[in-house]
Amino acid sequence: MSRRPSLTQRRALRAWSLAALLGMAAVVLTACSAMGTGTGISQVEFTHPLTFPAVLSGDRGPDGTRTYDLTAEAGTTDFGMGGPADTIGLNGSYLGPTLRMTRGERVKVRVRNDLDEMTTLHWHGLHVPARMDGGPHQMIEPGTTWRPRWTVDQPAATLWYHSHPHGETAQQVYRGLAGMLLIDDPEADGAGLPAEYGVDDLPLVVQDKTFVDDGQLVVDPIGHASTGFLGDTIVVNGVVGAFHEVTTEAVRLRLLNASNSRFYNFGLSDGREFQMVASDGGLLPQPLDLDRIQLSPGERAEIVVRFSPGETVALASYPPDLGHSIGTSERFGSGTFDVVQFRAAPSLTASAPVAPELADVPAPDAATATTTRRFGITDTAINGRPMDMGRIDQVVPIDTSEVWEVTNQNPQPHNFHVHDGSFRVLTIDGAAPPPQLAGYKDTVYVAPRSTVRLLVRFTDYADPTWPYMFHCHLLLHEDMGVMGQFVVVRPGDKVVPPPRPHDSHNLGVGQAPVDSATAPAETQAAHTDHSVRSGG
Ligand code: C2O
Ligand code: CU
Repeated sequence: MSRRPSLTQRRALRAWSLAALLGMAAVVLTACSAMGTGTGISQVEFTHPLTFPAVLSGDRGPDGTRTYDLTAEAGTTDFGMGGPADTIGLNGSYLGPTLRMTRGERVKVRVRNDLDEMTTLHWHGLHVPARMDGGPHQMIEPGTTWRPRWTVDQPAATLWYHSHPHGETAQQVYRGLAGMLLIDDPEADGAGLPAEYGVDDLPLVVQDKTFVDDGQLVVDPIGHASTGFLGDTIVVNGVVGAFHEVTTEAVRLRLLNASNSRFYNFGLSDGREFQMVASDGGLLPQPLDLDRIQLSPGERAEIVVRFSPGETVALASYPPDLGHSIGTSERFGSGTFDVVQFRAAPSLTASAPVAPELADVPAPDAATATTTRRFGITDTAINGRPMDMGRIDQVVPIDTSEVWEVTNQNPQPHNFHVHDGSFRVLTIDGAAPPPQLAGYKDTVYVAPRSTVRLLVRFTDYADPTWPYMFHCHLLLHEDMGVMGQFVVVRPGDKVVPPPRPHDSHNLGVGQAPVDSATAPAETQAAHTDHSVRSGG
């Protein structure tokens, strides 16, 4: 039996929450900080070996295209919390395999939906044609298969994928529809980074959950905080109370904040420094010595940690710095808690030092931008407009640098994510960003009343109908409408907005009639080759 509220219940909850956010925010916030509900993390014993998602490298066909098969399915997962929980996953009951793709290769993914609900699958951080992006418009009806394809053309990076159906993303990601996606690039091999998957190169999908006594997940994407659900139990790669046996002097952690709304300020439990080597979109120019790296939902970082033989030390999370306007971070996820424990073997295999120069990351040049666009974020809208799938909010010329100026007009935290690859952070409240935000990013924290200026540029793929998304990656906010749509166009393109969802079973713009369950997927595939040709 699923604990998931029915659609009607969820609609009611959403309506309630909208009203709360619009009209009763102060009351709700006061009540929450008094209760502290769902914000504290219960400390657990670290007694379960950390496991890693299986790697899916795809099959290379005669024409060189690599094909990956993913099936969204429902199942049960025993998190050791009193019994099995109803969950969803890809090629398994919870989360999905780690997809590995190599720069320069053509790839094709067959995403089959065996759930009894509609879903989509979005490639977060990937540079892909809008029709292949897996955003809210690329719906995969139950029983059908979606077949996006593209050419991988971006640097080595730790990306991820997750479902993205408008209004349902928070609950679907929470129930398990997410996974890692690693881009490999032979050019990055000289960086001296640990690279043995599951041994010294560890993907860490970090989430917070709440369980009831029989082990079921509490599925309440709305939660008690104005930023959305906060769980009381940390789950890493689907494991509660995880430890990892370290056998090498250095270990690379690929950190992904895949939580609905919790912020993590990662550091080691003894405060030792680590080297940060990559941010969302790829390697930093040089390794950075840090003792903390803060990630808002959707952000990633790669860090290299060095261990001494025989020691036990944990990756912890410390109270996040959410900006001066926030009186208490209690209701946004706070406190200090351990995330995963590392137990170093009595003798460790030597690890190469991290190279002093990692990648060529040219400094962003704001003078190249021809336009400045402004994005004002509130609880339920961007520039006063809640998400509308039938409205194009921004029309952006291809191959053109622009400044996107994002202001958080709220007293609460938001972040900002842009589809189709990476951007650069130019300034935060007028100052240069700290070095951990100076590389390639696709998601950035925007503190209350702050303004972040980004340098964006979209290349290769133009489409006057099918949009990409920009949005807050706190999943409740995204679902409630803190999202907008942009199309990338060539000179002379006439913008034709996409059909709204209630139109989507009629004749969609540029789509063939839908007369069988599998037609939408085939239609997508038929349009693919032309999109890919415009790429590199
Ligand atoms: Cu990770 Cu539009 O999202
Ligand atoms: Cu937000």
